[in-house]
Amino acid sequence: MLKDRVALISGGATGIGEAIARLFASQGAHACILDRDLAGCRKVAESIVSAGGKATAFGGDVRRREDIAPWVESAISSFGRIDVLVNNAGVYPRQAFLDMSAAQWDEMHDINLKSMFHTLQMVLPHMVARRAGKVVNISSVTFHMGMALLTHYVASKGGVIGLTRSLAREMGEYNIHVNCITPGAIKVDAEAKVVTEEQAQAWMASQCLQRRIMPLDIARVCLFLSSELSDGMTGQTLNVDGGWVMH
Ligand SMILES: NC(=O)c1ccc[n+]([C@@H]2O[C@H](COP(=O)([O-])OP(=O)(O)OC[C@H]3O[C@@H](n4cnc5c(N)ncnc54)[C@H](O)[C@@H]3O)[C@@H](O)[C@H]2O)c1
Repeated sequence: MLKDRVALISGGATGIGEAIARLFASQGAHACILDRDLAGCRKVAESIVSAGGKATAFGGDVRRREDIAPWVESAISSFGRIDVLVNNAGVYPRQAFLDMSAAQWDEMHDINLKSMFHTLQMVLPHMVARRAGKVVNISSVTFHMGMALLTHYVASKGGVIGLTRSLAREMGEYNIHVNCITPGAIKVDAEAKVVTEEQAQAWMASQCLQRRIMPLDIARVCLFLSSELSDGMTGQTLNVDGGWVMH
């Protein structure tokens, strides 16, 4: 479905980003993965290549333009274009609002939201020049419901939806599609650092679908939003949460 497409995916060393990179590569894309965990990123790229797919690993922090530039420039110099950008890298440490420092608030926004400003400013000129492109931003279902201990996170993820909607309006004339996914409680390794098994089970019990929603479930919807199947859509936010929140 993405044969020979050039796809940039941030945060691809683990979790949802890894699943997106693997699925895209299995569909014929060249997956250019950036992560601050370079070793993990290389492992994913090598395993894609050894399975017959195309992938390249880049180490870098999405907060730093000087880290993003080589990722973008390498895609342009190697392939002459970027077809798909998935802004996925993000963090979700818990912190009570009254104990939160301004530095914690800023760090959350720098990683989850301002990173998209940096990346999009570097990628979009190439898409505008070709009058084609697909952007998928990863937000969170928590924006629709609110969540204690995550005020900084939920605010940043709301910003991602606002960015998606406004950018879609600005980029439509260039045939650039900008959409968003709000994942629910996804079973990733990082979950165990912030959520107990009991909490995860309680969330699942609130879903319509009585199974954990997996990174591959998100990757499949991301594939849809990155392919021609979604050519009539832009500015939209798709909830992939097993029917936890209906929005
Ligand atoms: N897992 C969930 O339940 C869930 C739910 C809703 C939204 N999300 C969102 O999905 C995205 C992926 O989350 P995940 O659950 O796969 O997490 P994860 O921790 O498994 O993966 C995130 C990846 O991003 C990378 N990363 C973090 N900060 C970075 C930075 N500054 N620069 C470069 N890379 C960085 C990490 O190294 C990691 O490989 C995030 O934006 C997250 O907010 C996740």
